[in-house]
Amino acid sequence: MPESPGPATPAARPHLTGTVVHGAGRGHGLGFPTANIAAGPDSPVPPAAVYSGWVLRHRTGAVHPATISVGSNPTFCDTADVHVEAYCHDLAEDVYGERVTVWFAARIRDTVKFPSPADLVRAVREDVRRSGAVLASDHGRRVREDALAAHRRTTTSS
Ligand SMILES: Cc1cc2nc3c(=O)[nH]c(=O)nc-3n(C[C@H](O)[C@H](O)[C@H](O)COP(=O)(O)O)c2cc1C
Repeated sequence: MPESPGPATPAARPHLTGTVVHGAGRGHGLGFPTANIAAGPDSPVPPAAVYSGWVLRHRTGAVHPATISVGSNPTFCDTADVHVEAYCHDLAEDVYGERVTVWFAARIRDTVKFPSPADLVRAVREDVRRSGAVLASDHGRRVREDALAAHRRTTTSS
C-alpha cells in the first residue's frame, strides 16, 4: 500500500465498508478491544497484514485513528477464516451492529504467529505507536480528509 503520493481521486484510496460483528471476545482481556468487521460484498478484503488507517462510523460521521489486523489470528489457531479487526485508538464505546468504513493509510507489518499472547500484545503496542505516527503525518491527514469528503458525498447524494 503506497504511503505517498496519494491517488488522484479520494474514492480510489483503499477502503472497506462493513458491519461490526462479535469476535472471539479475547481483545478486552489482551488490552486492545477490536471492532470485528464483516466486509460487505462490494468491499474486497486486502491481503493479510497489519495496517494503519481511519475508521469512519456512519452513524456519527466521526473518523477514528486505528490499527487494523487482517488475518486469521494464527497465534490462537482458532480459525482459518480471515478477520478484519480494527483497534480504534480513541474509542472506548461499543460499536456492535454499526456500519463502518476503514480507510487504509499504510501497511505496517506481516501477520505473525507469536509464541505467546504476551508477545502479540508487545507487538500490538509497537504497531499502535507506528500507526499513530503514520496517521499524524501529512499523508495520514490527507487520507482522513479524503475519507471525510467521500462520506460527505454519500450523505448528501442519498
Ligand atoms: C494491531 C493488531 C495486530 C495484530 N496482529 C496479529 C498478529 O500478528 N498475529 C495474530 O495472531 N493476531 C494478530 N492480531 C489479532 C489478535 O489475535 C486479535 O485481535 C485478538 O485475538 C482478539 O480477537 P477477537 O476480537 O476475535 O476477540 C492483531 C490485532 C491487532 C489489533
